Amino acid sequence: MSTTENAARVLKSLKDEEWRTLAGVERASTGYGTPDAGRLSRMSRLPPERVRFATTDLGRKGLLMRKGQGFALTRTGVEAMALKDYVKKDLIFALGAIIAKGKESDVYEALTEEGSVYALKLYKIGRTSFTSVRKKRAREDAAFRSWMTANYDAAKREYHALRKLEGFSASFPRAVAYSRSTVLLEEVSGVRLSQRPILEDPEAALGTILALMRTAYTKAGLVNADLSEYNILTDGASVWLIDWPQAVDEAHPNASELLMHDVRAVTTFFKRAYGVAADPQRCFDYVAGRAQAPG
Ligand SMILES: Nc1ncnc2c1ncn2[C@@H]1O[C@H](COP(=O)(O)OP(=O)(O)OP(=O)(O)O)[C@@H](O)[C@H]1O
Ligand SMILES: [Mg+2]
Repeated sequence: MSTTENAARVLKSLKDEEWRTLAGVERASTGYGTPDAGRLSRMSRLPPERVRFATTDLGRKGLLMRKGQGFALTRTGVEAMALKDYVKKDLIFALGAIIAKGKESDVYEALTEEGSVYALKLYKIGRTSFTSVRKKRAREDAAFRSWMTANYDAAKREYHALRKLEGFSASFPRAVAYSRSTVLLEEVSGVRLSQRPILEDPEAALGTILALMRTAYTKAGLVNADLSEYNILTDGASVWLIDWPQAVDEAHPNASELLMHDVRAVTTFFKRAYGVAADPQRCFDYVAGRAQAPG
């Protein structure tokens, strides 16, 4: 069972004092490190013996782990808190099937009470570095904090980028909410362009993608900065540009270079996969809003 499935499974069995203990560990972790039982007792306003029970149970369920004298959240712990947050806000009520397992995130279906489905993206950036047991305590604490920060930040950044894109096109998945290391997204269909699906009119598809990049840049002021055939989905008729945590603002000093990088990634792929030739510089000028559509 994956960390996420385990998080969903234990959700209902958690008692109030266990949630309060988790919240205490989380608050401490994003600050100075791993709180010990005494500090947790003060933070969660629970008697020391209740904290002892809670940490033991949470450890058994895989949500908390010992770190020297203190405690730290596991990925399951973080994800349980996020799931609980969405459930409490009536956004979802159950976890569905896994959609994709990537290097930086796992994506699951999340079900709503009304029977519709969202895509729940759970970040797992740099997980290995914080589980390494050979590292010294201080370095472990720092690695753990940076693991949490990196993943919490990625989810938050993706949410805000997608909110900026919202309303400009249905080809940017709508972001519903974010919590901890996760972001709740509108589910879109399609396969990655990297799978080289048969396209009826590849040239038109390229035109659509460039037009979307232009919309993102000129209307929402955003450059994806990691666009490639891996972050474009299509069902043959529509395309979607996904994966926006690293998006930069048009005012960013490297915005132009990053935009050119995205343009090149897309045009190079279309040439290689579909034999569609397009001049990157002309495409860039178009995407940047400085010229009419090429070709
Ligand atoms: N909104 C969505 N609706 C449906 N599926 C999605 C959605 N967002 C992502 N996916 C699926 O999850 C995969 C990974 O998503 P994304 O590219 O955003 O994450 P990633 O961290 O870059 O993953 P990877 O490490 O695999 O590149 C996508 O290729 C797609 O299959
Ligand atoms: Mg991706």
